[in-house]
Amino acid sequence: MRKNYAVIGDPIQHSMSPAMHNDLFQFYGIDAEMKKIHIKKELLESGLIELRDMNIAGFNVTVPHKQAIIPFLDELDPLSKAIGAVNTVVCEKGKWIGYNTDGEGYLRGLLKQLPDLPQRKIIIIGSGGAARGIYFTLAQYGVLQIDICNRTLSNAAALKDACPYPVNTNIMDFASAEKTLSEYDLIIQTTSIGMSPHIDDTPIQLTNLKREALVSDIIYNPLETKILSAAKIKGAKTQNGIDMFVYQGALAFEKWQGFFPDTERMKQCVLTQLGG
Ligand code: ATR
Repeated sequence: MRKNYAVIGDPIQHSMSPAMHNDLFQFYGIDAEMKKIHIKKELLESGLIELRDMNIAGFNVTVPHKQAIIPFLDELDPLSKAIGAVNTVVCEKGKWIGYNTDGEGYLRGLLKQLPDLPQRKIIIIGSGGAARGIYFTLAQYGVLQIDICNRTLSNAAALKDACPYPVNTNIMDFASAEKTLSEYDLIIQTTSIGMSPHIDDTPIQLTNLKREALVSDIIYNPLETKILSAAKIKGAKTQNGIDMFVYQGALAFEKWQGFFPDTERMKQCVLTQLGG
């Protein structure tokens, strides 16, 4: 019997998850389909009832439902509970189990470039939901020092205080981060600054960036944000948000199908979607 999967959000039209998963279903000969389902912010509860009626096997959750969905789930895995957000739900025998593959997806993509991650000095730019997933996941992985810079210092302090895993963190504003940038091996940009259509914006200047550093931006539209092009000019390594998107999807696929899919194929599918 054909299995139904979905991605829910508001808006949802832009989501590339169905194209990526449907391509994998076809490639592996799995009788399944993923659909985009638009559930308005204020209509989550009734939308989820309809989803239960569809006999859904699993679904992805995107903005604005990642936190709001939690009360409607039967179980939560420990990391998604700590992060307080869910992006993947497995539906088994009527039981809905929530996971968060965003942070781990980011980590998997990063480890390809930096296998010795725990030894690296890291700074995260931003303290929102995306930063939270990444910060908690890196701390859980065993990274010992992760600094945070943010426009609003109290938001960064709240993020640090909420982390249940041991990690040392200095908090600073953008100006201090710019001054001390030469200390860092990895700069992780998690804010929406530089995202299309505001492609000329950048959170910090990279004057003091060291050449051996990796600058990683979770944005993938555009594929090369202003901060990444500035990093390239300095001779540093860069990573855009495609890997995080692909790996969060691959981890969701693994939870639904029981095996880890071909991430290179997924990446090509996403790049085709983006027209690149
Ligand atoms: P997400 O859930 O996608 O991470 P979010 O929770 O709205 O989005 O988080 C936004 C992050 O980007 C925050 O760190 C925010 O800084 P504040 O804590 O000071 O609000 C940061 N951010 C967004 N727009 C910004 C801007 N124009 N200048 C500086 N920081 C910005």
